[in-house]
Amino acid sequence: MEKFLINGGKPLIGRVHISGAKNAAVAILPAVLLSDEPCIIENLPQISDVSTLLSSLSKLGAEIKTINKTSVSIDPRRASYFVVTKEMAQGMRASSYFLGALLGRNNKARVAPPGGCDFGVRPIDQHIKGFEALGAYVAIENGMVDARAKELRGSSIYLDMVSVGATINIMLAAVKAKGLTIIENAAREPHIVDLANFLNSMGADIMGAGTGVIKIRGVEHLHGTQYSIIPDQIEAGTYMVAAAATGGDVTIENVTPKHLESIIAKLVETGAEIEEFDEAVRVKMTGRPRRCNIKTMPHPGFPTDMQPQIATLLSVAEGTSIVTEGVWEGRFRYVEQLTLMGADIQVDGKSAVITGVKNLKPAPVRAVDLRAGAAMIIAGLMAEGQSTVEDISHIDRGYELITEKLSGLGADIKRINDYDAPSAKLA
Ligand code: UD1
Repeated sequence: MEKFLINGGKPLIGRVHISGAKNAAVAILPAVLLSDEPCIIENLPQISDVSTLLSSLSKLGAEIKTINKTSVSIDPRRASYFVVTKEMAQGMRASSYFLGALLGRNNKARVAPPGGCDFGVRPIDQHIKGFEALGAYVAIENGMVDARAKELRGSSIYLDMVSVGATINIMLAAVKAKGLTIIENAAREPHIVDLANFLNSMGADIMGAGTGVIKIRGVEHLHGTQYSIIPDQIEAGTYMVAAAATGGDVTIENVTPKHLESIIAKLVETGAEIEEFDEAVRVKMTGRPRRCNIKTMPHPGFPTDMQPQIATLLSVAEGTSIVTEGVWEGRFRYVEQLTLMGADIQVDGKSAVITGVKNLKPAPVRAVDLRAGAAMIIAGLMAEGQSTVEDISHIDRGYELITEKLSGLGADIKRINDYDAPSAKLA
């Protein structure tokens, strides 16, 4: 079992380059199945979620050629299978996008129920409601989600709650359906806009992505394209918070500052100094962070995927902060780990009351999910002394070369095997 060994207590200083967005990549890769020609996808992050999806595409019959570390060519013409098994999906939430993509391609799809980080119940009722409105019949049979249609026809769909996954899946199924589809109360995240731009670059007719109403006029064919994925908003935000939490000075490069507005606003409230450039932001923190309250919300609100990282920063702030989770039911599971490091946090339902302590203390902790894992790394970098973070496969799902990037900023962090651990050597 691998883990991270961190000798914390040093400020992060320097420049870091942000990779392509995970949540855009995991939508765009299945979307290639809708093309009638090969596509070149660039700026793919080197993370395990991307390798899992590429291997699933190849098992479906697509031909994948690696161009370089971050670009691939995908030829979907021979992808004749329409079943994504549990083994292929490997518990990924984004495997659900194969439902929309395969339905849009073949009018049939059979996909293992999506997994992903454990934030409590993660239903797909809104995805199914969308497919049904387009004329598909959806059933759960033998532990698989089975969707079929004689023909997909455009329709108006009102989402009962703002759902990133349902918005993406309905776009995928509707892009080649007959007629006009309107998604109301659609999610507005940057990766929704990126998927729409990708599909439009293949000849799709999608308007309104990035607003609450998306209009999709179905087209018969989608042609090949060469497309570069947007920078990862959450990876950027994670390095911004890590810079502030360690009292550092970091320039985060290859970002879209507009996507980072809510994170910038909150970091400024905590006392960080932020400079914005065309494609970079510089985050500098001197002194102890100030308290602030945060409520996570769909975009353009503060992203739920940044909640554990910012709560970790607030755990050493002067005063008491309240962090309210507005998207997921069970997203405070990491708090138990943070309290092992001396944080003073009381969770009551959807809110965490964080009473700032002066310092975190080093400890062995676990990554309970992807972003919680990033938070544990930030905590380890803040606490003076040696911490370890276990269960790091969660972190590898979403952060490219995290030890290399942090080491480049002066952090003392290593990936070790259990038998390399100092305690094992002493025994
Ligand atoms: C995506 C992101 C995830 C992020 C989340 C919210 C990917 C691969 N994952 O997840 O990192 O935390 O957006 O920004 O992009 N809901 C339903 N029924 C549905 C669908 C959703 O009740 O059919 C609820 C969920 O339980 C949740 C809320 O809607 O409370 C938002 O979920 P959603 O936006 O769909 O999240 P994901 O697409 O799964």
